Amino acid sequence: MYRNTTCGALRASDIGTEVTLSGWVHKVRDKGFVVWVDLRDRYGITQLVFDQDRTPVDLLDKAKELGRETVIQIKGETIERASKNPNIPTGDIEVLVQELQILNESILPPFTIEDETDGGEDIRMKYRYLDIRRNPVKDNLIFRHKVTMEVRKFLSDQGFIEVETPYLIKSTPEGARDFLVPSRMNEGQFYALPQSPQTFKQLLMVGGMDKYFQIVKCFRDEDLRADRQPEFTQIDCEMAFVEQEDILNAFEGLTRHLLKEIHGVDSGDFPRITFDEAMRRYGNDKPDIRFGMEFGELNAVSQHKDFNVFNSAELVVGIAVPGGASYTRKEIDKLIDWVKRPQVGAKGMVYVKCNEDGTYKSSVDKFYDQDDLAKWAETTGAKTGDLICVLSGNTNETRAQLSALRMELAEHLGLRKPDEFAPLWVIDFPLLELDEETGTYHAMHHPFTSPKPGQLELLETQPGEVKANAYDLVLNGNEIGGGSIRIHDKEIQATMFKHLGFTPEEAKAQFGFLMDAFQYGAPPHGGIAFGLDRLVAILGGQETIRDFIAFPKNNSGRDVMIDAPADIDDAQLKELHLKLDL
Ligand code: AMO
Repeated sequence: MYRNTTCGALRASDIGTEVTLSGWVHKVRDKGFVVWVDLRDRYGITQLVFDQDRTPVDLLDKAKELGRETVIQIKGETIERASKNPNIPTGDIEVLVQELQILNESILPPFTIEDETDGGEDIRMKYRYLDIRRNPVKDNLIFRHKVTMEVRKFLSDQGFIEVETPYLIKSTPEGARDFLVPSRMNEGQFYALPQSPQTFKQLLMVGGMDKYFQIVKCFRDEDLRADRQPEFTQIDCEMAFVEQEDILNAFEGLTRHLLKEIHGVDSGDFPRITFDEAMRRYGNDKPDIRFGMEFGELNAVSQHKDFNVFNSAELVVGIAVPGGASYTRKEIDKLIDWVKRPQVGAKGMVYVKCNEDGTYKSSVDKFYDQDDLAKWAETTGAKTGDLICVLSGNTNETRAQLSALRMELAEHLGLRKPDEFAPLWVIDFPLLELDEETGTYHAMHHPFTSPKPGQLELLETQPGEVKANAYDLVLNGNEIGGGSIRIHDKEIQATMFKHLGFTPEEAKAQFGFLMDAFQYGAPPHGGIAFGLDRLVAILGGQETIRDFIAFPKNNSGRDVMIDAPADIDDAQLKELHLKLDL
């Protein structure tokens, strides 16, 4: 038997017991006549003691030679520590070692296995298995397990059935590029890895599995960011005989359950705002509502003077920065430089200081008097001591720029508190999105999303105005889930495909199986998918999903540990019909 307890288990009540422990050598302190070894496993650290009076002398010498990360097994007696360590749960005891076995040596690790390591990101990714030995990474994986188990438990208790769907499929249109897998047995043909199980879960509804879920890997070949990985996990869900209200209630229930179980937070009804309102108030369809700084549209109170920049703008919009009136000229210049960075793209920024004495000082005093500026303050909700930041230009771009500034300032001011949770639903998304480059429309969510009741006719005349029965769940400024009520009528689905630019032949070739299924009594249905990685990261108070994935890819989509993607040899290429001239 390698062990009869773990390195995190022993307490004062165990004093006097004989124990067998296995684990990794975390640290060795050699005082000559006595050697202390911190032994580590998944559960914690236990101090081992070897001393010249109570330990066989050859053991003391062996202990002195132990290198970091060597795997050992020991037998010994649990004794009271002379100097207790209140910082760790096993700090009252130590184990006086009688037998020591080296199970496996370790070469020197490339970084220290400590909470605060000396290893940079790249080296830790290359040796991810060593990184996983560190508490911050290990704890994140355990946290993910806990969230996942709660999700399974909740959904199963609510009558949802977990069904697995295939990974080798045909392209599913979620808006990203597919990862393709060549077929050896079908020359020249490819499977696509699913961007989501969307079509399969709809077919499960036709199959009568009226409450489905699956914790499932999805694959999307898109540019990576902190909240995106090429393979990620969804909590994918679908229900039959439901309206939007039923879905929102069911999954608000799941989210509320998680907040309660994981953080003990009681959340009331989640606010709901429309996409249009989210864009107007926050310039963003995934607003962080943990803090205010809502947009104030200033066209009416700024476009009547001689300031041509504003007069010619489609939108003039500002936010109030709490306490910002005390910013120095240098600090404000830094903000202006920040919004002018190519990633943000503003041409400039107008500001107004709301002074403590009730006066206003702005960068456009030449054009606006105190009464004008007072109206700006009223519209943006600025109080004495605040700074108003104003951007102008084309509506969509200006909103995006001011939204970026709002988030940056909130981060800087410590308003994005990781232990505060502010969920909300964003509803009534547009059905279609105009691709500015090609001038064509594509589905904003996906082509199976149904228009809001009574809006189908608008598709012909004003496609950009049609609203969808689609919703996103937003948590702390991140989209953690999205879904819709689906089209379940073959004719309406065919109309949608037509508007998305598919010929009937193309629609049949790509989605004939779904349209066929709709002829056999498809029930009304709808669903949602949560991004599990994002949900876990945000519940864990962070936003980088990589830290909550055991073996993530880097920003170039590479796994630097196994060195993938990699070249493959000619013989394999030939077998897959990818190299024909051998
Ligand atoms: P959607 O495309 O909105 O919807 O995806 C659902 C959720 O998955 C997460 N997500 C990602 N997480 C990490 N890395 C990525 N590359 C990534 N892409 C998406 C997000 C997102 O909210 N089939 C539909 C759902 C439905 O209609 O029921 C779908 O996949 O948190």
